[in-house]
Amino acid sequence: MKKGLSFERVIVKMTQYSNTEILMTKTLVATSALIYANGPLHLGHMLEGIQTDIWVRSQKSLGHKCLYISGSDAHGTPIMLTAQKKGMDPETMVARYHQDHEQDFRSYGVHFDQFHSTHSGENKALSESIFSKIQANGDIVNREITQAYDPEENMFLPDRFIKGTCPKCSAKDQYGDNCEACGAAYNPEDLIDAYSAISGAKPIEKLSEHYFFALDHYQDFLSKWLRQGHVSEPVANKLQEWLDEGLKAWDISRDTPYFGFLIPGETSKYFYVWLDAPIGYMAGIEAYCQNNEGTLDDVFGLDSQVGLYHFIGKDIINFHALFWPAMLKSAGYRQPSAVHAHGFLTIDGKKMSKSRGTFITAKRFAKHFDPEQLRYYFASKLSDGLEDIDLNLQDFIARTNSDLVGKVVNIASRCAGFISKKYQGQLAAEADQPELLAQWLAEKDTITHFYTKRQYQRATRAIMAIADQVNAYIDQQKPWQLIKDPEQSNRVQSICTTGLNGFRLLVAYLKPILPKMAEASEAFLQCPPLDFMALDNHLLSHGIATFEPLMQRIDSSQIEALLADNSDEA
Ligand code: 2FM
Ligand code: ZN
Repeated sequence: MKKGLSFERVIVKMTQYSNTEILMTKTLVATSALIYANGPLHLGHMLEGIQTDIWVRSQKSLGHKCLYISGSDAHGTPIMLTAQKKGMDPETMVARYHQDHEQDFRSYGVHFDQFHSTHSGENKALSESIFSKIQANGDIVNREITQAYDPEENMFLPDRFIKGTCPKCSAKDQYGDNCEACGAAYNPEDLIDAYSAISGAKPIEKLSEHYFFALDHYQDFLSKWLRQGHVSEPVANKLQEWLDEGLKAWDISRDTPYFGFLIPGETSKYFYVWLDAPIGYMAGIEAYCQNNEGTLDDVFGLDSQVGLYHFIGKDIINFHALFWPAMLKSAGYRQPSAVHAHGFLTIDGKKMSKSRGTFITAKRFAKHFDPEQLRYYFASKLSDGLEDIDLNLQDFIARTNSDLVGKVVNIASRCAGFISKKYQGQLAAEADQPELLAQWLAEKDTITHFYTKRQYQRATRAIMAIADQVNAYIDQQKPWQLIKDPEQSNRVQSICTTGLNGFRLLVAYLKPILPKMAEASEAFLQCPPLDFMALDNHLLSHGIATFEPLMQRIDSSQIEALLADNSDEA
């Protein structure tokens, strides 16, 4: 029989590396938004992948079981049209980007326990079953609606595919939902001289019967749910506008041609992509369970003890914190523990834009920089709020060179030479000023708390404050002078032992952000994995390996090369 996902709370004593007792281990599942599989990953995607990955790694380091689930969002009109343009089947295109995205994430150290796809057998079965449960619960209504239709392409047009002249400022070629020239928001039928962005034809109005999810049945439920700590206060306040207007039934069907799952019993109507997308989280968990342990019910059952956390961008809050919890409620499942929304990424203060050359793909960036440098930069800016994160390229150089190379790695390079050359690579039996090590170790709880709360900026500040203290300590002790006096030889060894143990703590604290550098440092220090729960015993009378540079300085010519590189796929 398959084991459950060990969701009972257990007491673990980590005897191998530390004396620390974890009183409660938790089982947690984190997700980041499923990625549309019709284009390359850009740095905005990486922001979310890195934010979630840091959180997952920090929770694992605290001894919890924590799964990271994401994948491809494979359905919808834009996917269908991109595939057509490329002359490919949507299935083939989606499979190609699925692989490509997973590989890009891997190169940035973003590790998934399952990277699945909404175009999967699990997701089809779950979407059908959830739809039928919602229907049985009386929450599906059918209504006839009028929609814009392209008479040349014989298809209904989503708002984004209708263009025309802005009714406010008369700017030409604006989209059906808002004007990029004057910022006005309107409905597609308000556009002057509207035309189909696909064929150029003038849209006609056409009737069609659609399926709606009765979101309005969940007005009271959601009003309470949003004030129970599952979303931050600013997010709850944003969603309050929807509640104040009164929730309306939500259209969950689309007519053929469409790339998606057919609605059971229909031959030309499909589930709208946003119905089966969040169900894709479940499908990913189910696939994980099939390949590993546990069942979907362990996570989504009503009595589940698993923490379920969705990391998303602020533009898709309504789908995750209104529609999704209501769908789950209607179908008899538990709701997410929390929905964590972050702000958008800007580059040098501006929205990413292809025409301005600030649309940077993950692949191009990784050709010019060590992706861990970006992980650190994002971490140094991320909070638990909705503010946008700016990647300022000059600041990125300064931050990497001053914090990572100048402060952290510098400690190791300052101390390691003495230990290798003068003491055969052996650390002293006692550290100089052990109270300093105790003080730096005592910061662990504050730092891990910041990680858990997604306040990575505060975590990196606290870590860099320790790095400053370690460097100040070495500056005061001046081992390079003491080494000249043979009587002070033992002191130099114990000073460097304090310095290197300080370095060890810093690397451990940074490990969720810099897993690759941490692994190289573990090899250098010849120590067991630097997990938060395994830090109490300092390295004394211990042999270390020869120091090799752990992080390269960035030169401003690398930025010029990045911006001049036009190797991105078209
Ligand atoms: O907005 C987007 O990019 C969607 N692909 C996110 C889907 S998240 C989840 F619901 F699948
Ligand atoms: Zn306008």
